[in-house]
Amino acid sequence: MDHIESKKKHWENIYDTKKLNEVSWYQPVPESSLNFINSVELAKDARIIDIGGGDSFLVDNLISLEYTNLSVLDISSNAIARAKQRLADKADEVKWIVSDVTDFKPSGTYDLWHDRAAFHFLTSSEDIKKYLNTMESAISPNGYLILGTFSDKGPTKCSGIEIKQYSIKGLKASIPDTFTFIEGKNIDHTTPSGSIQNFTFCKFKKK
Ligand SMILES: C[S@@+](CC[C@H](N)C(=O)[O-])C[C@H]1O[C@@H](n2cnc3c(N)ncnc32)[C@H](O)[C@@H]1O
Repeated sequence: MDHIESKKKHWENIYDTKKLNEVSWYQPVPESSLNFINSVELAKDARIIDIGGGDSFLVDNLISLEYTNLSVLDISSNAIARAKQRLADKADEVKWIVSDVTDFKPSGTYDLWHDRAAFHFLTSSEDIKKYLNTMESAISPNGYLILGTFSDKGPTKCSGIEIKQYSIKGLKASIPDTFTFIEGKNIDHTTPSGSIQNFTFCKFKKK
């Protein structure tokens, strides 16, 4: 089994065996992401993609906020199927993409690239480079990047696999200089089991 196949198998199994509120990243209202997205003041028809969106409620909230050009990408077809089932008729308003982000070939550009807790699963310099190259070419000039990862004070693993932690300074240093850093925050997330996970959230603007 190659690298991508084994990652996919892991995530398909997670979404096959765990309920929505049994995963540590469960968040009925993804407040941090929404605050960052609202701060950008995008047009309602802005092209927005949620990378590693899984079956999170971010897309439901963005539909309620009347954004009309939404895409969700995830490596797991089970996660996407669950999100579609929950959204029922509204699922048709979203473009769903099943792909490993390191293998993603965007057909157009985006005004906002959002990622909460997917980027940090990339631990090899090769995968990180592929992600950053794709992200850089997929964001339109003056477009935004909002990234949320576990912080340097957060967990070292998520869903049983190693992650790469980022401080605000570290995340800032990892992003290509075609982007301007706008703001960074460390935010605690409380998991359904009550433990606290410290995240680094940063917002960048493409020059
Ligand atoms: C910790 S969950 C976070 C889900 C969602 N972003 C949230 O905040 O609720 C990580 C998600 O990233 C997806 N994922 C992990 N590695 C990925 C990759 N290489 N390409 C695309 N998606 C990936 C997983 O399937 C999972 O849905």
